[in-house]
Amino acid sequence: MQPPRRATPRRYLMCPPAHFDVTYAINPWMNPAKPVDVPLAVAQWEDLRSRYLALGHTVEELTPRPGLPDMVFAANGATVVDGRVLGARFAHREREPEAAAHLEWFRAHGFPHVHEPVHVNEGEGDFAVTASYVLAGRGFRASPLSHGEAQEFFARPVIGLDLVDPRYYHLDTALAVLDDTTDEVMYYPPAFSPGSREVLRRLFPDALVAGAEDAAAFGLNAVSDGLHVLLPQAATGLLGPLRERGFEPVGIDLSELLKGGGSVKCCTQELRC
Ligand code: ARG
Repeated sequence: MQPPRRATPRRYLMCPPAHFDVTYAINPWMNPAKPVDVPLAVAQWEDLRSRYLALGHTVEELTPRPGLPDMVFAANGATVVDGRVLGARFAHREREPEAAAHLEWFRAHGFPHVHEPVHVNEGEGDFAVTASYVLAGRGFRASPLSHGEAQEFFARPVIGLDLVDPRYYHLDTALAVLDDTTDEVMYYPPAFSPGSREVLRRLFPDALVAGAEDAAAFGLNAVSDGLHVLLPQAATGLLGPLRERGFEPVGIDLSELLKGGGSVKCCTQELRC
């Protein structure tokens, strides 16, 4: 029996791609030799933002800074659960200053519990929040030690998951939370180690399992409000299975941002407060 689907209003933090570019390569999707069309990136990003607003969600904006071309991927700057803000510490020097920009934003916006992390974590890039757990990726970016730090700070069980394919370097490129009230997720098994695959199978026996083509189209880089699932429009193989489960998939074209190795979820940090 399928649970009834219900959208709940969300609060998101996004950062416009005014200074988006690909000037370095820290994941296999990035090719600095390929030119980036900034006005197109901005238009695609604006479209995503308007969709959220049209669905009744609140979108907060972080001011983009020159020299930080990946700042548009706002999901990486922090993780907010129960109003508690775990800041980020980036694995690569190129993105390091983004962490402070996020911390400043949270302090200026009255979040009382802001923790500056000791261990490397790239926010919601590697943390996904379900009803029962915080799922935590490791292998390419987040330090395994950041998982304990998150568990202590959020006081929620953190489940470590090993990522093994460099194309799926962040957890949010290989797994998305579809319903955060019932622990429903979709994921791409080959992105995970055999043991982590088994953990996912045990925890989420009814998960939507994605195929290689949809994963490569960044289809797992999706944002759900409980009913609407916003995902890259090229991930067409996920549309049917999502509808069968009672979700309303909404395809988004973020082709320019894909040049940086990110899509819908990467651009969207959820403020759970
Ligand atoms: N170029 C960025 C990086 O490699 C992309 C980050 C995408 N964000 C995400 N949440 N997966 O760090």
